[in-house]
Amino acid sequence: MRSEEIRETFLRYFEERDHVRRPSASLVPSVHDPSVLLTTAGMQPLKPYFLGEEEPPSPRLTTCQRCFRTTDIEEVGNTARHLTFFEMLGNFSFGDYFKHDAIRFGWELSTEGFGFDPDQIWVTVFEGDDELGLGPDTEAIEIWREIGVPEERIVRLPRAENWWQAGPTGPAGPCSEMYLDRGERFGRSEDLPGDDTERFLEYWNHVFMTYELHEDGSLTDLPSRNIDTGLGLERMAAIKQDVPSVYETDLFRPLVELAEELSGRSYGDDGKGTRAMRIIADHTRGTANLIADGVVPSNEDRGYILRRIMRRAIQQGRVLGLEPPYLGRFAERVIEDMGGVYPHLVEHRDTILRWVSDEEESFGRTLARGT
Ligand code: GLY
Repeated sequence: MRSEEIRETFLRYFEERDHVRRPSASLVPSVHDPSVLLTTAGMQPLKPYFLGEEEPPSPRLTTCQRCFRTTDIEEVGNTARHLTFFEMLGNFSFGDYFKHDAIRFGWELSTEGFGFDPDQIWVTVFEGDDELGLGPDTEAIEIWREIGVPEERIVRLPRAENWWQAGPTGPAGPCSEMYLDRGERFGRSEDLPGDDTERFLEYWNHVFMTYELHEDGSLTDLPSRNIDTGLGLERMAAIKQDVPSVYETDLFRPLVELAEELSGRSYGDDGKGTRAMRIIADHTRGTANLIADGVVPSNEDRGYILRRIMRRAIQQGRVLGLEPPYLGRFAERVIEDMGGVYPHLVEHRDTILRWVSDEEESFGRTLARGT
């Protein structure tokens, strides 16, 4: 299943169930939301609807949102899955359906739409938290039981795993995650979801967005009970394309192939080269998308995040022994690959390439002086 098909399967499934499909919002959050520098989840642009501050265009929405997270930036390249820039598919309910339908949709699309074997699906639920003053999510547990998930595959996990908040304050709630068990060949019989092993792959988070979290850590009820879900496109592509890492999916292959072509090395041959190719692929996707959304490299805030990923990508090009300039070649390939789905990348092609070339030149001078 190509990534395009995964995107369409998800969005169409929810459109057929009365959700309005909305395009991805910008990676730069609205001026009304100073809680984050960049859009970190599908729900971010929808916050005013969850908080009851604005009327949503429909009580049910579905999106494929471009997201950027810096939390794992140092891990990118070292693992099969960590990314900074990614696409998140989601279905959202604003005071409309709640846990029952959300969980049923999750189950039906996983088994019928994506063809997962029900016996391989495990789920996790919120086990409660004293500090938050909340008990276990017995409602979600009961719904999973009704669906037929056996008791041993309903795993209770603490706040660190099964609680979602959109930043330090804002809409929040317990969540329930769906995992695919890839079998003991990827781990041990005693492994469990949440253990962060290769055996259980988390692929879909269902957030039961019920509270607003305040600065003093207290919770108040939101005006309505809502649903926010997140399914990582890259991770689902790795599962459906049966490849060991996101970098071997059709979303990354063209960039990895360009790195192979320019360096004469092969992905997977040696640790350092593989890591470099992964970092270049992730960071150039982020670079093109951030610039297309109006971010420019600088020494502060989101401009600094952009400069940092551009410079990390340039450095990794050196590790591969690429002849500069090369960052623009990768940015062009991102525009080529993603421009069909996100045409504003094509519209801003010249701007993207100009910033990329300026940064590579100035960082090149810094590196030369340093050497
Ligand atoms: N907002 C849900 C998630 O990012 O997992």
